[in-house]
Amino acid sequence: MKRLLCIISAALLATCSFGARSVPDIIPAPKSMELTKGSFKVRGAAFNCENTVDARIQNDIMAFADHLALISGKNNSFTTTVGLRANCDKAKVSGFAFVPEESLPAEGYRISVTPKAVVVRASSRNGFLYAIATLKQMLPVAIYGKEPSPKEDWNIACCEIVDEPRFGYRGMHLDCSRHMFSVEQIKRYLDAMAIYKMNRLHWHLTDDQGWRIEIAKYPRLTEVGAYRKGTQIAKDRTSNDGVRYGGYYTRSQIDEIIAYADKLGITIVPEIDLPGHMQAALAAYPELGCAGSEPQPYEVWCRWGISKQVLSVGKEETMRFLEDVVGEVADIFPSEYFHIGGDECPRDEWQKDPACQAKIKELGLVSDSEASAEDRLQNYVTNRIQKYLSGKGKRVIGWDEVLKGELGEGATVMSWRGSKGGIEAAKKGFDVIMTANKFMYFDYYQLQDKDIQPLAIGGYLPFSKVYSFDPTEGLNASEAKFIKGVQANLWTEYIATGEHLEYMMLPRAIALSEVQWCQPSRKDLERAKSSMAEHQSRILDILGYNYCKTIE
Ligand code: ACM
Repeated sequence: MKRLLCIISAALLATCSFGARSVPDIIPAPKSMELTKGSFKVRGAAFNCENTVDARIQNDIMAFADHLALISGKNNSFTTTVGLRANCDKAKVSGFAFVPEESLPAEGYRISVTPKAVVVRASSRNGFLYAIATLKQMLPVAIYGKEPSPKEDWNIACCEIVDEPRFGYRGMHLDCSRHMFSVEQIKRYLDAMAIYKMNRLHWHLTDDQGWRIEIAKYPRLTEVGAYRKGTQIAKDRTSNDGVRYGGYYTRSQIDEIIAYADKLGITIVPEIDLPGHMQAALAAYPELGCAGSEPQPYEVWCRWGISKQVLSVGKEETMRFLEDVVGEVADIFPSEYFHIGGDECPRDEWQKDPACQAKIKELGLVSDSEASAEDRLQNYVTNRIQKYLSGKGKRVIGWDEVLKGELGEGATVMSWRGSKGGIEAAKKGFDVIMTANKFMYFDYYQLQDKDIQPLAIGGYLPFSKVYSFDPTEGLNASEAKFIKGVQANLWTEYIATGEHLEYMMLPRAIALSEVQWCQPSRKDLERAKSSMAEHQSRILDILGYNYCKTIE
């Protein structure tokens, strides 16, 4: 009996009914949503759009109308209208009406559903896209599919929704160095992000185990640096499967991914990880390495871990190489943010390398209680690359190691070794993106029983722990303003297939979306879990995602 009551109350929690079709809990939950009486008939409803709405947004709205018509089995006409907004204000519209509303916050939107009309207001393209994403979650899940399903209940419950995100940067990261994923698989990754209103894909394109982007001036980066002789087997760092592995994304594939993401309102933030994590580049251009670095010759690394083989940044030739590479990548990606890595750069080789030591001397860098001379040498690299990229209109992001010593004004810190680096950065006035590993590393196991999951790097990060993350903990209100966003990271040492990638991403990305979007007062783990069980799982099923079916 108790169990039956639990099931009934979970079902009630997952859906609200108000004399209309039941309304599933939307994820991420809108800032406010008030159900009113009645419902709006969607099948065959006309779509109207204020004629001043940007042509690209009109295309997005038209695409939604066409898809709705296909799935609901009845045509939805699309018209642009002059003065539609004034008519909306006087409640003199019927059908769908899309109107600009400049007073709404960036990426915010409002939806008003009455039995006569669905009025959507937003001030930006992403605002309109998120309104459509919300409407889709209010429709039968068939809307996510490709098959006409005219028999479904094609009504939207009447309601008033006012929504805007808590954070402007809402990201997922993807490591394509340790393992590569096809263009189609990356598109599926982006599709899932878009359902949950994320707007940044942080694309980790280079590392010790493979260089994955063509650079015209340095062809050996992909000819040599994109291929390793084998891959370590499971957790045995002394092993090697002996199977050549690699590849890279061509310029046209990268353009295709950028354009696809852009259609979904997602910006791709490229990462060139420097000055460590560069062994693949050293295999291609050994002259950029530190003198006497062992073992030689350099090889694209076949195992996981932190390589000691790093760039000799004391050489001007190396710095020019870095500027050329980031310059070319900056020209490819429209993103204002450019990630320059900066994590896990061991100092061992720099301490022995005459060029690095000469540079330390030349710059007068000293070791003290704050930082070593080698830490300051990394500051020199970070600052120089930051300056170079800012000349191209870019803002740099670095992993939290870049904070050691002196970081240049305007840099954004990505806090991964817990929230500590992010807290320190925010207190110093740097913008921060929180990716605290214990809450945001989706390469960790998601269930307690490791034996029933694919191999993972370690750790234990269930859905509920992702959901519990508080990105501004430890900061007062004025410091918390520097927290610009939240991101989860997916490192792929142990993830070789698209299927496995989806399993690690989902459903934890759904929990993440409420951390990114919702004010703390809107968060409710039980609501999110029941929405997952009753509704989100059906969306993932219809789209064919491979996801972890158990939630802990
Ligand atoms: C990192 O996980 N090394 C940023």
